[in-house]
Amino acid sequence: MKSPICDLLDIEFPLIAFSHCRDVVVEVSKAGGFGVLGAARYSTEDLEVELNWIDEHIEGKPYGVDLIAPTSMAVTEDSDSVDAIQKRVPQDYKDFASGILERHQVDSTDVYEGYKRNSFLTKAKAGNIVDVAFSHPIKMIANALGVPPPYMIDIAKQKGVATAALIGTKEHALKQVQAGVDIVVASGTEAGGHCGDVPTMVLIPEICGALQGSGVPVLAAGGIVTGKQMAACMAMGAAGVWTGSVWLTSAESDTPPVLKEKMLKASSRETIRSRSRTGKHSRQLRSPWTDAWEASDAPEPLPMPLQSQVTEAPLARVTKLAEVGHDGANQLVTSWVGQGVGLMSSTQSAKAIVYEFMEDYLAASERLSASLDD
Ligand SMILES: Cc1cc2nc3c(=O)[nH]c(=O)nc-3n(C[C@H](O)[C@H](O)[C@H](O)COP(=O)(O)O)c2cc1C
Repeated sequence: MKSPICDLLDIEFPLIAFSHCRDVVVEVSKAGGFGVLGAARYSTEDLEVELNWIDEHIEGKPYGVDLIAPTSMAVTEDSDSVDAIQKRVPQDYKDFASGILERHQVDSTDVYEGYKRNSFLTKAKAGNIVDVAFSHPIKMIANALGVPPPYMIDIAKQKGVATAALIGTKEHALKQVQAGVDIVVASGTEAGGHCGDVPTMVLIPEICGALQGSGVPVLAAGGIVTGKQMAACMAMGAAGVWTGSVWLTSAESDTPPVLKEKMLKASSRETIRSRSRTGKHSRQLRSPWTDAWEASDAPEPLPMPLQSQVTEAPLARVTKLAEVGHDGANQLVTSWVGQGVGLMSSTQSAKAIVYEFMEDYLAASERLSASLDD
Protein backbone atom coordinates (compact mmCIF):
# COMPACT_ATOMS: atom_id res chain seq x y z
CA MET A 1 0.00 0.00 0.00
CA LYS A 2 1.08 3.58 -0.58
CA SER A 3 1.28 5.63 2.61
CA PRO A 4 3.99 7.79 4.18
CA ILE A 5 3.65 5.53 7.24
CA CYS A 6 4.56 2.44 5.18
CA ASP A 7 7.69 4.23 3.95
CA LEU A 8 8.62 5.59 7.39
CA LEU A 9 8.14 2.31 9.27
CA ASP A 10 9.01 -0.10 6.45
CA ILE A 11 5.67 -1.93 6.58
CA GLU A 12 3.12 -3.18 4.03
CA PHE A 13 -0.12 -2.10 5.69
CA PRO A 14 -0.42 1.03 7.91
CA LEU A 15 -2.16 -0.72 10.80
CA ILE A 16 -0.40 -0.01 14.10
CA ALA A 17 -1.18 -2.22 17.10
CA PHE A 18 -0.53 -0.89 20.59
CA SER A 19 -0.29 -3.73 23.11
CA HIS A 20 1.32 -4.50 26.46
CA CYS A 21 1.64 -8.06 25.25
CA ARG A 22 4.79 -9.07 23.36
CA ASP A 23 3.04 -11.92 21.49
CA VAL A 24 0.56 -9.48 19.94
CA VAL A 25 3.39 -7.13 18.92
CA VAL A 26 5.26 -9.94 17.18
CA GLU A 27 2.22 -11.43 15.43
CA VAL A 28 0.98 -8.09 14.09
CA SER A 29 4.41 -7.13 12.71
CA LYS A 30 4.84 -10.56 11.15
CA ALA A 31 1.43 -10.24 9.47
CA GLY A 32 2.36 -6.96 7.74
CA GLY A 33 1.21 -4.39 10.32
CA PHE A 34 3.33 -2.76 13.04
CA GLY A 35 3.34 -3.82 16.69
CA VAL A 36 4.12 -1.31 19.44
CA LEU A 37 4.92 -2.60 22.92
CA GLY A 38 3.43 -0.51 25.75
CA ALA A 39 6.34 -0.23 28.20
CA ALA A 40 4.37 1.44 31.02
CA ARG A 41 4.01 -1.71 33.09
CA TYR A 42 7.67 -2.75 32.87
CA SER A 43 10.76 -2.02 34.95
CA THR A 44 13.95 -1.46 32.95
CA GLU A 45 15.01 -5.06 33.65
CA ASP A 46 11.65 -6.50 32.56
CA LEU A 47 11.56 -4.31 29.46
CA GLU A 48 14.98 -5.66 28.48
CA VAL A 49 13.63 -9.22 28.77
CA GLU A 50 10.53 -8.41 26.72
CA LEU A 51 12.47 -6.68 23.95
CA ASN A 52 15.02 -9.51 23.79
CA TRP A 53 12.12 -11.93 23.35
CA ILE A 54 10.60 -9.77 20.62
CA ASP A 55 13.95 -9.56 18.80
CA GLU A 56 14.23 -13.35 18.87
CA HIS A 57 10.73 -13.99 17.54
CA ILE A 58 9.85 -11.14 15.18
CA GLU A 59 11.89 -12.43 12.22
CA GLY A 60 13.47 -9.05 11.55
CA LYS A 61 10.13 -7.27 11.08
CA PRO A 62 9.88 -3.70 12.40
CA TYR A 63 8.29 -2.80 15.75
CA GLY A 64 8.11 0.07 18.25
CA VAL A 65 7.93 0.96 21.94
CA ASP A 66 5.52 3.30 23.74
CA LEU A 67 6.13 5.14 27.04
CA ILE A 68 4.06 7.36 29.31
CA ALA A 69 6.08 10.42 30.26
CA PRO A 70 3.33 12.93 31.12
CA THR A 71 4.05 16.65 30.70
CA SER A 72 2.05 17.50 33.82
CA MET A 73 2.01 15.47 37.00
CA ALA A 74 1.54 16.23 40.68
CA VAL A 75 4.91 14.63 41.32
CA THR A 76 7.81 15.20 38.96
CA GLU A 77 10.82 15.08 41.24
CA ASP A 78 13.03 12.13 40.40
CA SER A 79 13.64 11.52 44.08
CA ASP A 80 9.98 10.76 44.65
CA SER A 81 9.83 7.05 45.32
CA VAL A 82 6.56 5.11 45.23
CA ASP A 83 6.65 5.18 49.05
CA ALA A 84 6.89 8.98 49.04
CA ILE A 85 4.08 9.26 46.51
CA GLN A 86 1.90 6.92 48.56
CA LYS A 87 2.39 9.05 51.65
CA ARG A 88 0.71 11.90 49.81
CA VAL A 89 -2.48 9.89 49.26
CA PRO A 90 -5.15 10.81 51.82
CA GLN A 91 -6.32 7.84 53.88
CA ASP A 92 -10.01 8.56 53.17
CA TYR A 93 -9.40 7.82 49.47
CA LYS A 94 -8.02 4.41 50.36
CA ASP A 95 -10.95 3.88 52.74
CA PHE A 96 -13.39 4.78 49.98
CA ALA A 97 -11.80 2.26 47.60
CA SER A 98 -11.69 -0.42 50.31
CA GLY A 99 -15.38 0.24 51.03
CA ILE A 100 -16.29 -0.57 47.40
CA LEU A 101 -14.47 -3.90 47.74
CA GLU A 102 -16.14 -4.75 51.05
CA ARG A 103 -19.63 -4.00 49.64
CA HIS A 104 -18.90 -6.70 47.06
CA GLN A 105 -17.61 -9.21 49.59
CA VAL A 106 -13.98 -8.68 48.55
CA ASP A 107 -11.71 -8.66 51.60
CA SER A 108 -9.77 -5.39 51.57
CA THR A 109 -7.37 -6.27 54.41
CA ASP A 110 -3.82 -5.08 53.64
CA VAL A 111 -4.80 -4.32 50.05
CA TYR A 112 -2.22 -1.53 49.80
CA GLU A 113 0.48 -3.57 51.51
CA GLY A 114 3.49 -4.15 49.25
CA TYR A 115 2.06 -2.27 46.25
CA LYS A 116 5.11 -0.61 44.65
CA ARG A 117 4.21 0.42 41.13
CA ASN A 118 4.19 3.79 39.38
CA SER A 119 3.70 3.46 35.62
CA PHE A 120 4.22 7.16 34.95
CA LEU A 121 7.77 8.15 34.28
CA THR A 122 9.79 10.74 36.10
CA LYS A 123 12.74 12.23 34.21
CA ALA A 124 15.37 9.81 35.51
CA LYS A 125 13.21 6.70 35.10
CA ALA A 126 12.21 7.80 31.58
CA GLY A 127 15.91 8.17 30.72
CA ASN A 128 16.63 4.58 31.76
CA ILE A 129 13.64 3.17 29.91
CA VAL A 130 14.48 5.18 26.78
CA ASP A 131 18.06 3.85 26.91
CA VAL A 132 16.81 0.25 27.08
CA ALA A 133 14.41 0.88 24.18
CA PHE A 134 17.15 2.38 21.99
CA SER A 135 19.49 -0.54 22.67
CA HIS A 136 17.10 -2.65 20.55
CA PRO A 137 16.39 -2.34 16.81
CA ILE A 138 13.14 -0.35 17.26
CA LYS A 139 11.71 1.60 14.32
CA MET A 140 9.49 3.90 16.37
CA ILE A 141 9.30 5.33 19.88
CA ALA A 142 5.99 6.83 21.02
CA ASN A 143 4.91 8.89 24.00
CA ALA A 144 1.48 9.35 25.53
CA LEU A 145 0.26 12.31 27.60
CA GLY A 146 2.45 15.10 26.35
CA VAL A 147 5.47 16.20 24.34
CA PRO A 148 8.19 13.53 24.46
CA PRO A 149 11.23 14.47 26.59
CA PRO A 150 13.75 16.36 24.35
CA TYR A 151 16.49 13.74 24.82
CA MET A 152 14.08 11.08 23.50
CA ILE A 153 13.57 13.10 20.32
CA ASP A 154 17.32 13.85 20.04
CA ILE A 155 18.45 10.21 20.35
CA ALA A 156 15.68 9.09 17.99
CA LYS A 157 16.88 11.58 15.36
CA GLN A 158 20.50 10.42 15.78
CA LYS A 159 19.47 6.78 15.41
CA GLY A 160 16.96 7.29 12.59
CA VAL A 161 14.06 6.07 14.76
CA ALA A 162 10.65 7.69 14.14
CA THR A 163 9.03 9.48 17.08
CA ALA A 164 5.28 9.48 17.63
CA ALA A 165 3.01 11.18 20.14
CA LEU A 166 -0.63 10.73 21.07
CA ILE A 167 -2.88 13.80 21.13
CA GLY A 168 -6.58 14.57 21.44
CA THR A 169 -6.70 18.26 20.43
CA LYS A 170 -5.46 20.47 17.59
CA GLU A 171 -3.43 22.63 20.02
CA HIS A 172 -1.55 19.59 21.29
CA ALA A 173 -0.92 18.35 17.74
CA LEU A 174 0.69 21.67 16.80
CA LYS A 175 2.87 21.57 19.95
CA GLN A 176 4.08 18.07 19.06
CA VAL A 177 5.02 19.10 15.53
CA GLN A 178 6.87 22.13 16.90
CA ALA A 179 8.78 19.83 19.27
CA GLY A 180 9.89 17.75 16.27
CA VAL A 181 7.84 14.52 16.42
CA ASP A 182 7.65 12.57 13.16
CA ILE A 183 4.15 11.08 13.54
CA VAL A 184 1.06 12.45 15.29
CA VAL A 185 -1.44 9.92 16.64
CA ALA A 186 -4.80 11.69 16.79
CA SER A 187 -6.91 9.84 19.30
CA GLY A 188 -10.65 10.44 19.54
CA THR A 189 -12.80 10.18 22.63
CA GLU A 190 -13.90 6.64 21.69
CA ALA A 191 -10.43 5.33 22.55
CA GLY A 192 -9.61 2.92 25.33
CA GLY A 193 -7.23 4.33 27.95
CA HIS A 194 -6.48 8.06 28.18
CA CYS A 195 -8.55 10.09 25.75
CA GLY A 196 -9.84 13.57 25.05
CA ASP A 197 -13.43 14.57 24.39
CA VAL A 198 -13.51 15.06 20.59
CA PRO A 199 -14.78 12.10 18.54
CA THR A 200 -12.51 10.49 15.96
CA MET A 201 -14.90 11.48 13.13
CA VAL A 202 -14.31 15.17 13.88
CA LEU A 203 -10.75 15.03 15.23
CA ILE A 204 -9.15 13.35 12.20
CA PRO A 205 -10.14 15.91 9.55
CA GLU A 206 -9.41 18.70 12.04
CA ILE A 207 -5.88 17.47 12.76
CA CYS A 208 -5.14 16.51 9.14
CA GLY A 209 -6.21 20.00 8.10
CA ALA A 210 -4.09 21.67 10.79
CA LEU A 211 -0.99 19.65 9.88
CA GLN A 212 -1.40 19.93 6.12
CA GLY A 213 1.90 21.00 4.58
CA SER A 214 3.90 20.11 7.71
CA GLY A 215 5.01 16.77 6.24
CA VAL A 216 3.99 15.06 9.51
CA PRO A 217 1.66 12.11 8.85
CA VAL A 218 -1.37 11.56 11.08
CA LEU A 219 -2.41 8.18 12.43
CA ALA A 220 -6.09 7.95 13.40
CA ALA A 221 -7.00 6.30 16.71
CA GLY A 222 -10.07 5.79 18.83
CA GLY A 223 -12.80 3.23 18.24
CA ILE A 224 -11.09 1.63 15.22
CA VAL A 225 -11.73 -2.10 15.18
CA THR A 226 -12.38 -2.84 11.49
CA GLY A 227 -10.85 -2.25 8.07
CA LYS A 228 -13.88 -0.24 6.95
CA GLN A 229 -13.26 2.25 9.78
CA MET A 230 -9.62 2.33 8.74
CA ALA A 231 -10.68 3.16 5.16
CA ALA A 232 -12.97 5.91 6.48
CA CYS A 233 -10.11 7.45 8.50
CA MET A 234 -7.79 7.32 5.52
CA ALA A 235 -10.51 8.89 3.35
CA MET A 236 -10.45 11.76 5.88
CA GLY A 237 -6.70 12.22 5.42
CA ALA A 238 -5.07 9.86 7.92
CA ALA A 239 -1.97 8.00 6.72
CA GLY A 240 -2.93 4.90 8.72
CA VAL A 241 -4.46 3.85 12.02
CA TRP A 242 -3.29 3.22 15.60
CA THR A 243 -5.37 0.66 17.49
CA GLY A 244 -5.44 -0.67 21.06
CA SER A 245 -8.72 -2.23 22.19
CA VAL A 246 -9.16 -4.68 19.32
CA TRP A 247 -6.07 -6.68 20.41
CA LEU A 248 -7.29 -7.12 23.99
CA THR A 249 -9.58 -10.01 23.03
CA SER A 250 -7.14 -11.59 20.56
CA ALA A 251 -6.03 -15.16 21.24
CA GLU A 252 -2.46 -14.05 22.05
CA SER A 253 -3.42 -11.23 24.43
CA ASP A 254 -2.71 -11.77 28.13
CA THR A 255 -5.99 -10.05 29.09
CA PRO A 256 -7.45 -12.22 31.90
CA PRO A 257 -10.14 -14.56 30.47
CA VAL A 258 -12.81 -13.08 32.75
CA LEU A 259 -12.20 -9.64 31.23
CA LYS A 260 -12.05 -11.01 27.68
CA GLU A 261 -15.47 -12.55 28.28
CA LYS A 262 -16.89 -9.27 29.64
CA MET A 263 -15.51 -7.37 26.65
CA LEU A 264 -16.89 -9.82 24.09
CA LYS A 265 -20.35 -9.41 25.63
CA ALA A 266 -20.22 -5.61 26.10
CA SER A 267 -22.01 -3.13 23.86
CA SER A 268 -20.47 0.17 22.76
CA ARG A 269 -22.44 1.90 25.55
CA GLU A 270 -20.78 -0.06 28.33
CA THR A 271 -17.65 2.04 28.69
CA ILE A 272 -17.14 5.21 30.68
CA ARG A 273 -14.70 8.11 30.32
CA SER A 274 -13.66 9.04 33.81
CA ARG A 275 -10.83 10.56 35.86
CA SER A 276 -11.34 7.99 38.60
CA ARG A 277 -8.65 5.52 37.47
CA THR A 278 -5.57 7.74 36.99
CA GLY A 279 -6.59 11.34 37.68
CA LYS A 280 -6.77 12.11 33.94
CA HIS A 281 -9.70 11.15 31.73
CA SER A 282 -9.45 7.56 30.56
CA ARG A 283 -12.00 5.22 29.01
CA GLN A 284 -12.71 1.91 30.68
CA LEU A 285 -15.30 -0.83 30.92
CA ARG A 286 -18.21 0.30 33.11
CA SER A 287 -18.74 -1.75 36.28
CA PRO A 288 -20.00 -1.19 39.85
CA TRP A 289 -16.39 -0.06 40.62
CA THR A 290 -16.55 2.80 38.08
CA ASP A 291 -20.17 3.59 39.09
CA ALA A 292 -19.08 4.00 42.72
CA TRP A 293 -16.50 6.59 41.67
CA GLU A 294 -19.18 8.55 39.75
CA ALA A 295 -21.60 8.58 42.73
CA SER A 296 -22.27 11.80 44.66
CA ASP A 297 -20.38 10.57 47.77
CA ALA A 298 -17.21 9.76 45.78
CA PRO A 299 -14.13 11.90 46.41
CA GLU A 300 -12.85 14.10 43.58
CA PRO A 301 -10.07 12.09 41.82
CA LEU A 302 -6.54 13.05 42.86
CA PRO A 303 -4.05 14.37 40.27
CA MET A 304 -1.76 11.95 38.42
CA PRO A 305 0.11 9.92 39.66
CA LEU A 306 -1.62 9.90 43.08
CA GLN A 307 -5.01 8.54 41.98
CA SER A 308 -3.42 5.36 40.54
CA GLN A 309 -1.98 4.69 43.99
CA VAL A 310 -5.58 4.58 45.23
CA THR A 311 -7.03 2.43 42.45
CA GLU A 312 -4.45 0.00 41.08
CA ALA A 313 -3.89 -2.16 44.16
CA PRO A 314 -7.62 -2.80 44.83
CA LEU A 315 -8.25 -3.46 41.14
CA ALA A 316 -5.35 -5.93 41.03
CA ARG A 317 -6.94 -7.83 43.92
CA VAL A 318 -10.36 -7.70 42.24
CA THR A 319 -8.93 -9.07 38.97
CA LYS A 320 -7.13 -11.89 40.75
CA LEU A 321 -10.30 -12.93 42.60
CA ALA A 322 -12.48 -12.57 39.49
CA GLU A 323 -10.16 -15.01 37.73
CA VAL A 324 -11.00 -17.67 40.30
CA GLY A 325 -14.74 -17.07 40.05
CA HIS A 326 -15.41 -14.72 43.02
CA ASP A 327 -18.86 -13.31 42.30
CA GLY A 328 -18.40 -9.80 43.76
CA ALA A 329 -15.00 -9.42 42.09
CA ASN A 330 -16.49 -10.59 38.83
CA GLN A 331 -18.98 -7.74 38.96
CA LEU A 332 -16.38 -5.12 39.90
CA VAL A 333 -13.63 -6.14 37.49
CA THR A 334 -12.87 -3.56 34.80
CA SER A 335 -10.20 -2.66 32.29
CA TRP A 336 -9.31 0.13 29.92
CA VAL A 337 -11.17 -0.43 26.66
CA GLY A 338 -12.71 1.81 24.01
CA GLN A 339 -16.22 2.11 22.60
CA GLY A 340 -15.15 -0.19 19.77
CA VAL A 341 -15.69 -2.98 22.32
CA GLY A 342 -19.23 -3.14 20.93
CA LEU A 343 -17.77 -4.40 17.64
CA MET A 344 -15.54 -7.02 19.28
CA SER A 345 -17.55 -10.22 19.45
CA SER A 346 -15.17 -13.15 19.00
CA THR A 347 -11.63 -14.16 19.86
CA GLN A 348 -9.32 -14.44 16.86
CA SER A 349 -5.59 -14.68 16.45
CA ALA A 350 -3.78 -11.35 16.01
CA LYS A 351 -2.73 -12.50 12.54
CA ALA A 352 -6.37 -13.20 11.57
CA ILE A 353 -7.36 -9.73 12.84
CA VAL A 354 -4.69 -8.11 10.63
CA TYR A 355 -5.84 -10.12 7.60
CA GLU A 356 -9.48 -9.26 8.28
CA PHE A 357 -8.54 -5.56 8.48
CA MET A 358 -6.86 -5.90 5.07
CA GLU A 359 -9.87 -7.61 3.44
CA ASP A 360 -12.35 -5.23 5.03
CA TYR A 361 -10.28 -2.19 4.00
CA LEU A 362 -10.19 -3.43 0.42
CA ALA A 363 -13.94 -4.12 0.32
CA ALA A 364 -14.67 -0.63 1.74
CA SER A 365 -12.35 1.00 -0.82
CA GLU A 366 -14.07 -0.92 -3.63
CA ARG A 367 -17.48 0.19 -2.37
CA LEU A 368 -16.34 3.80 -2.47
CA SER A 369 -14.91 3.38 -5.99
CA ALA A 370 -18.09 1.65 -7.15
CA SER A 371 -20.14 4.59 -5.84
CA LEU A 372 -18.44 6.76 -8.48
CA ASP A 373 -19.35 4.43 -11.38
CA ASP A 374 -22.11 5.52 -13.75
C1 LIG B 1 -5.72 -1.46 27.98
C2 LIG B 1 -5.16 -0.22 27.35
C3 LIG B 1 -3.99 0.32 27.86
C4 LIG B 1 -3.43 1.44 27.26
N1 LIG B 1 -2.25 1.92 27.73
C5 LIG B 1 -1.60 2.88 27.02
C6 LIG B 1 -0.27 3.25 27.36
O1 LIG B 1 0.32 2.72 28.30
N2 LIG B 1 0.35 4.17 26.57
C7 LIG B 1 -0.29 4.73 25.48
O2 LIG B 1 0.32 5.52 24.77
N3 LIG B 1 -1.54 4.42 25.17
C8 LIG B 1 -2.21 3.50 25.89
N4 LIG B 1 -3.47 3.13 25.52
C9 LIG B 1 -4.11 3.81 24.39
C10 LIG B 1 -3.72 3.15 23.06
O3 LIG B 1 -2.38 3.46 22.74
C11 LIG B 1 -4.57 3.64 21.90
O4 LIG B 1 -4.38 5.01 21.69
C12 LIG B 1 -6.05 3.40 22.06
O5 LIG B 1 -6.28 2.10 22.52
C13 LIG B 1 -6.76 3.60 20.72
O6 LIG B 1 -8.14 3.49 20.82
P1 LIG B 1 -8.91 2.09 20.75
O7 LIG B 1 -8.69 1.48 22.08
O8 LIG B 1 -10.32 2.48 20.52
O9 LIG B 1 -8.30 1.28 19.64
C14 LIG B 1 -4.07 2.05 26.13
C15 LIG B 1 -5.26 1.51 25.65
C16 LIG B 1 -5.82 0.39 26.23
C17 LIG B 1 -7.10 -0.16 25.65
